[in-house]
Amino acid sequence: MKSLSYLNKYFFKYKWRLLLGTIFIVISNYFGVQMPLYVKSTIDDLMKSTTITSIEDALYLSLKIGGIYMLLSLISGFFLFLMRQTIIVMSRLIEFDLKNEIYSHYQKLDFTFYKKNATGDLMNRISEDVSQVRMYLGPGIMYSINLVALSILIITQMIKISPYLTVFVLIPLPIMSFLIYKVSSKMNLMSKNVQVEQSMLSTLAQETFAGIRVVKAYSREKEAHEKFNATAQEYKSKSMKMVIFNAFFMPTIVFLIGLSTLLTIYIGGKLTYNHSISIGGIVAFIFFVNKLTWPFASIGWVTSINQRAAASQTRINEFLMTEPAIKNASSEVFDFEGKIEFKNVSYTYENSGITALNNISFTLNKGETLGVIGRTGSGKTTILNLLMRQLDVTSGELLIDGHSVKSINLDQFRGQTGIVPQDVFLFSDTIANNIKFGSNDASISMERVIESAKKAHVYDNIIAFPDQFETLLGERGVNLSGGQKQRISIARALIRDPKLLLLDDCLSAVDTETEEIILNHLKEEFKQRTSIIVSHRISSIRHANKLIVIDQGSIIESGTHESLLALNGVYTEMYTKQLADENDLNQSL
Ligand SMILES: Nc1ncnc2c1ncn2[C@@H]1O[C@H](COP(=O)(O)OP(=O)(O)OP(=O)(O)O)[C@@H](O)[C@H]1O
Ligand SMILES: [Mg+2]
Repeated sequence: MKSLSYLNKYFFKYKWRLLLGTIFIVISNYFGVQMPLYVKSTIDDLMKSTTITSIEDALYLSLKIGGIYMLLSLISGFFLFLMRQTIIVMSRLIEFDLKNEIYSHYQKLDFTFYKKNATGDLMNRISEDVSQVRMYLGPGIMYSINLVALSILIITQMIKISPYLTVFVLIPLPIMSFLIYKVSSKMNLMSKNVQVEQSMLSTLAQETFAGIRVVKAYSREKEAHEKFNATAQEYKSKSMKMVIFNAFFMPTIVFLIGLSTLLTIYIGGKLTYNHSISIGGIVAFIFFVNKLTWPFASIGWVTSINQRAAASQTRINEFLMTEPAIKNASSEVFDFEGKIEFKNVSYTYENSGITALNNISFTLNKGETLGVIGRTGSGKTTILNLLMRQLDVTSGELLIDGHSVKSINLDQFRGQTGIVPQDVFLFSDTIANNIKFGSNDASISMERVIESAKKAHVYDNIIAFPDQFETLLGERGVNLSGGQKQRISIARALIRDPKLLLLDDCLSAVDTETEEIILNHLKEEFKQRTSIIVSHRISSIRHANKLIVIDQGSIIESGTHESLLALNGVYTEMYTKQLADENDLNQSL
């Protein structure tokens, strides 16, 4: 329950709504209590007097009772409506705030956090868990206030009529609350089990559809379906159990209400012998008991709602309290001049224990281009991740313009960097918007978009589509080839006119000829900024000012294309092999 105290700040924010809601609850209940009292006094009058002498009198009286009863119900109902309007609306507002708070916190968290936690889990906490918490904020709070207000109003009236009968009719209520609490807890447990199955089912479906091409290519539809079917069966049987349990719930409550009514009539009837209660009093009691039953029944329900909300809030807090491992250390203006220095940098991935980089050192000055080449898994991408401070070095130092990367304004540094990641990601949006995404200026002109597309040598491809730059990509749009995606991703990096340009194997899916064209376009770009090109292919990096060859996280050779060839080492070996492959390819074409 302690976890829920986190939400108090929101109650404070919406204190006026909460207060107003409480006032409405009291008013609504006040009028609700007047109804039975009115019925009581009318019946008692009738029993005593002989005012009714004709059929007209009787008709008039019934209309009067009916009319007043309706009026009181209307007033009570109207305030009930206002109470929902304030308290339930408050809970929706808090829900909205909380979702935003969680979302913005998620965005602060780093790479490692996202590696550790499954996307499904992140989504659940922002949707499922927040919904549970809202049940506490809305109905939970509302029914609790309602119970207190109603109990005070009704029980005082009951005691006024007959203290003795009050004691008797109130006895079953706490028992009922307890029973309902037990039942609700059991139901929650069941629904939790159902939820677990449900999320397994959706994860399974999502994975299958995401990998549908592989599933179909290997004609594994039948197996996939069987797997789905098995999980769905499990889901079904758990849901069925819950339905049966649920079915007993309502009848039990109705039975208990009936029992209380019976008790009222029986004991009340006996009391009329010695005139300690009037007939009208008994009728009023029946009304009162019925009115109290629901709020008392809700105690059990509310308790279990609150418990569930507390469990959800604990999960939410766990993420909200996760401090980002990488935080922006400075809010000072940072203007990147162009110098990068790796000083004996090593990096070990915590989760796998793999030392991806081992004692890496190099310096890159303004306007220079570094080419990084090495086998797969040698640590090339890790260098870029460290440079962008997606990760922090395990040992050694990484200097940007002579300052530790940990001390500069990270947002601004990243804002001046253009990265083309190895695994291209394009949004389900238009091509134009995907390219514009790179720019810090939301209203960047179409000319700039076109210019970057031309530089990335993807312009001709784009205008060949019927919708050109407005072509939708992704799920409901067109599919691009690997090479087209890479080039759009390059255009995205170029449009921001970055001071630092990082290309991670971003020409792997284009042929050598296109690569040559793009590199020629980029030459001008490289002159103006500091750049790093990572590649498997020597053709992509041979023109760089500096080259490093890495193997298993260490630099094994470094120099320029010419000096490396002169070394006659690994680089030369790679070069001759790649040249030979290319010649073979050319001959076979
Ligand atoms: N998030 C991660 N968690 C654990 N280990 C990782 C992670 N990312 C990379 N590694 C490991 O670190 C090593 C270096 O990986 P890295 O991605 O830097 O290689 P790379 O040179 O870019 O390879 P490629 O050419 O295939 O892209 C690999 O052994 C890899 O398994
Ligand atoms: Mg890589």
